[in-house]
Amino acid sequence: MVVAFRWFVPLLASVAVVTPCWSQETPRPLREFARRQRLLVGTAVGYSELVDDPRFAQTAARECNLVTTENELKWGIVHPAPDTFDFTRADAIVDFARANRMKVRGHTLVWHQQNPAWLTNGTFTRDELIALLRTHIHTVAGRYRRRIKHWDVVNEAFDDASGTLRDTLWLRGIGPEYIELAFQFAHEAAPRAKLFYNDFLIELIGPKFDAVYALVADLKARGVPIHGVGFQAHAFLSTSCTTCFDQMATRFKQIADLGLEVAITELDVPIVQPTTPAALADQAVLYDTALAACLSVRRCRTFVMWGLTDRYSWIPSFFPTMDDALILDRDYAPKPAYFALRDRLAGPRR
Ligand code: XIL
Repeated sequence: MVVAFRWFVPLLASVAVVTPCWSQETPRPLREFARRQRLLVGTAVGYSELVDDPRFAQTAARECNLVTTENELKWGIVHPAPDTFDFTRADAIVDFARANRMKVRGHTLVWHQQNPAWLTNGTFTRDELIALLRTHIHTVAGRYRRRIKHWDVVNEAFDDASGTLRDTLWLRGIGPEYIELAFQFAHEAAPRAKLFYNDFLIELIGPKFDAVYALVADLKARGVPIHGVGFQAHAFLSTSCTTCFDQMATRFKQIADLGLEVAITELDVPIVQPTTPAALADQAVLYDTALAACLSVRRCRTFVMWGLTDRYSWIPSFFPTMDDALILDRDYAPKPAYFALRDRLAGPRR
């Protein structure tokens, strides 16, 4: 009987992945659970923490099967002078990902921020600006065409809350067509890559979502090579907003019904300081709601957080009253949000 039971254990373990008796000291990593949901679980990775903090690199490789280049492929870093491209830092992240069997999400080919001074202060005709955009995208997306299969092509083209196109150097210099040109150039450079429009606060109902919906529906209908919409999912409002992701699944479905993929691309849930146990519990609910929304839609296969540990997060320097937005604390200990994600991934397969 005992022998038979022993034979049974590995068999059962391979079928029923939920084994409630794991010790919390040696949890199985999120990427293992994500695989059985056919989901990429990722983190933004900055060059400095990757090279300076071995613990960060180990944790990212352990937990995630995807990395997004946090800053290293933005124009300001990768294209520092008109005729100069510098791929040193991006290459380090891509090499790290390869060595650890992780996919890479490229971020981002067109944005209004973190552009080099030569671009923002320059004077260009419309044709010159289009040529610059073409050269940039062909060079960057082309270099990584075999290694980067997902791109946030155009980032934040709409105003923060309205449905108006944002006043950027691209809109002023080229007109609204800069968006479809960017997708065309990216497709020419990386024909097998999935190309996304990426923005924030579009999980809510309102003019911004409507405008993004109309844009991507139009691009798709006209045959522009767009494959999906990235929902950044920065929960800016505060953790008392436990309902602010409640519409997310509905928004995902609307986009998916257009025949487009959806992705969560930059999830974090900042806490208005000071952080309390109740706030951590609310934060876990929001992380879980976002993951459940993604799992509820067949066309959502990517779940990326904007960092892993509160040791490295963009939040406190941009929103000084907020912090502790990620799923591991400063000492890499899992927070309630980590366990919420793990439990959701270990739950029923979608
Ligand atoms: C942030 C980075 O995390 C910071 O390190 C940088 O200083 C500013 O940009 N939306 C985006 C990301 O699309 O590129 C931003 O990343 C966060 C908001």
